[in-house]
Amino acid sequence: MIERSEKIKLFSQRLKNAKKANRYFYMREIQGPSRAKVIVEGKEYINFASYSYLGISDHPDIMQAAKNAIDKYGSATGGVRLLAGTTTLHTKLEEKIAEFKKVEAAITYSSGYVANLSSISSLTSTKDIIVMDKLDHASIIDGCMLSGAHFRTYKHNNMKHLEKILEKNKDYNIKLIIVDAVFSMDGDIADLPNIRKLADKYGADVMIDEAHALGVLGETGRGIEEHFNIDGSVDIKMGTLSKTIPSVGGYIAGNKDLINYLKHISRGFVFSASLPPSSVAAALAALNVMEKETWRYEKLRENTRLFNQGLIEMGYNTMNSETAVVPILIGDEERTLELARFVNDNGIYVCPILYPAIPKNTNRIRNHVMATHSIKDINKALDIYYKGGKKIGIK
Ligand SMILES: Cc1ncc(COP(=O)(O)O)c(C=O)c1O
Repeated sequence: MIERSEKIKLFSQRLKNAKKANRYFYMREIQGPSRAKVIVEGKEYINFASYSYLGISDHPDIMQAAKNAIDKYGSATGGVRLLAGTTTLHTKLEEKIAEFKKVEAAITYSSGYVANLSSISSLTSTKDIIVMDKLDHASIIDGCMLSGAHFRTYKHNNMKHLEKILEKNKDYNIKLIIVDAVFSMDGDIADLPNIRKLADKYGADVMIDEAHALGVLGETGRGIEEHFNIDGSVDIKMGTLSKTIPSVGGYIAGNKDLINYLKHISRGFVFSASLPPSSVAAALAALNVMEKETWRYEKLRENTRLFNQGLIEMGYNTMNSETAVVPILIGDEERTLELARFVNDNGIYVCPILYPAIPKNTNRIRNHVMATHSIKDINKALDIYYKGGKKIGIK
């Protein structure tokens, strides 16, 4: 008891100090949709903090679909999916996700976090082994812990280490490799072709979290398999409805038997209220927009190239980012905060990511490029980073 109150007190003090020193950047109020430009506390910024990679969070078709759904179905279902919580829209959305991901079926959950937690813990148990990348998302780690399965982490994207772990644990009956497609803090891409080869060699299944890959990777935004041109190489495809898709929720897509099992066994589905109709309709409409407005993928790639390349030329370390997640690795916490303050004061809305959210001494500013950033926005942001870099001694 004493320990807990001491912990809370210490944390409060840390928070107070950060605010007093003008080094607190979180939970600022955005006054409007998450566009390429946002008004935050009365001031306009270029938005580099949003996961809305394709810039469709205020797309008229999507907003209209959400409004229509409220008119037709009300604001909520008043039930869990198995009982009174499945509307025609819920079924349509799951069919659409399955079609978009080129599999037989899909299940939706109340968030991406819950999708990982609930699916992983119902697909594995104490007799099984899960092997995961060291930089996998927290929801995967939490899902592993909840499952009670043994789990091992391999060095980031290191296939030799993955093989070593698989070889050592080859006698487990169920082996599951779980990996982020795009690493959420680093922006690099999982080595899926080699993960699949190793999975086949050691009899493991592959589950991929495409939270930051859907709408980002592949010619038509379908994700990591399209990126590597290896359709059908992922057994369990997880994604969110809260990033490129401007709604809320998470999904698992795969074969019919897998999805039916999850729909009757996974506790986050069985014992939690269904998604509100407006959110379901928004997600469904977003997938239709993503199929129609394919120019957004090319524009996102062009903006990403321009921004990442510009930062590298200034001497910044953007880690191994190949995607719209573009981190700027600073290392030291104080310098990271100093740069964050400078760029925010000069009109970029972005947040520093600090330890313990990431490994020690890898403090960084994480940028998210959007398809709706104009070239002028990108160049302006680069100019601000250039000046900020000079200030903190990057160049
Ligand atoms: C890789 C990854 N997986 C899962 C999630 C959780 O998704 P959601 O925000 O929809 O709960 C996130 C969220 O940031 C993520 O980055």
